[in-house]
Amino acid sequence: MFEGLDGTGKSTQMRKLAAVLREAGHKVIETREPGGTVTGEKIRKVALDSGTSGLAPLAEMALMFASRAQHIAEMIEPGLAAGAIVLCDRFTDSTEAYQGSGRHLGSEAVRELHRVLCGDLQPDLTLLMDSNPRASVNRARRRNQRASKSSSRGHDENRFEQETRSFFGRVREGYLAIAKREPGRVVIVDARGTPGQTHQKIVEVVSSKFALVGPSKRMHHAR
Ligand code: TYD
Repeated sequence: MFEGLDGTGKSTQMRKLAAVLREAGHKVIETREPGGTVTGEKIRKVALDSGTSGLAPLAEMALMFASRAQHIAEMIEPGLAAGAIVLCDRFTDSTEAYQGSGRHLGSEAVRELHRVLCGDLQPDLTLLMDSNPRASVNRARRRNQRASKSSSRGHDENRFEQETRSFFGRVREGYLAIAKREPGRVVIVDARGTPGQTHQKIVEVVSSKFALVGPSKRMHHAR
């Protein structure tokens, strides 16, 4: 799983890692949340569009989990069963950081919903891309504004980018607390260097955790 604040380069790094893994002979599935399935992408539109005004924090959390439950059923579980490595841009740590910390809903609610709705499915490895919150969020804002200007259908993905600096400060703290609680699963990657430097670090982390040759499972049920 790739986690981190908006604009830390998660999707670029995921693509680069997928290429390395494929080169080593693995079957790789690249996906993202919210989204990853047809239904999930519809949920994504509702959750991220700045036109969705007045969304209650609990409703926002429920949407993230609705997308995730569908994603697990339709994509992640079948992918793992077929022996693929599943790389996902965001998973439940995002909900814990953004809704749990950012929106003050608390970690416990998120973890409980994860147990009920996601069968407590845990990633084998989570790469937490850490960087300067202000720089990353500004980057994401610019990118999404460009994308929404070129979109003819009036959709955008700007709802979260409009949040305050203190919101993103809480999100980052939320992430760091997860990393501290689960050091065996979450590795913090310093994402302030060039994309090439960050990629190198990620390949080192992944190689030291897994044998890169030969297919194997990348997630397991904790229950
Ligand atoms: P993403 O497309 O990964 O944005 P970026 O590329 O800008 O990092 O994620 C979209 C937004 O959704 C992001 O602002 C974080 C938010 N989000 C949550 O608040 N909770 C969640 O559970 C997930 C998966 C995403």
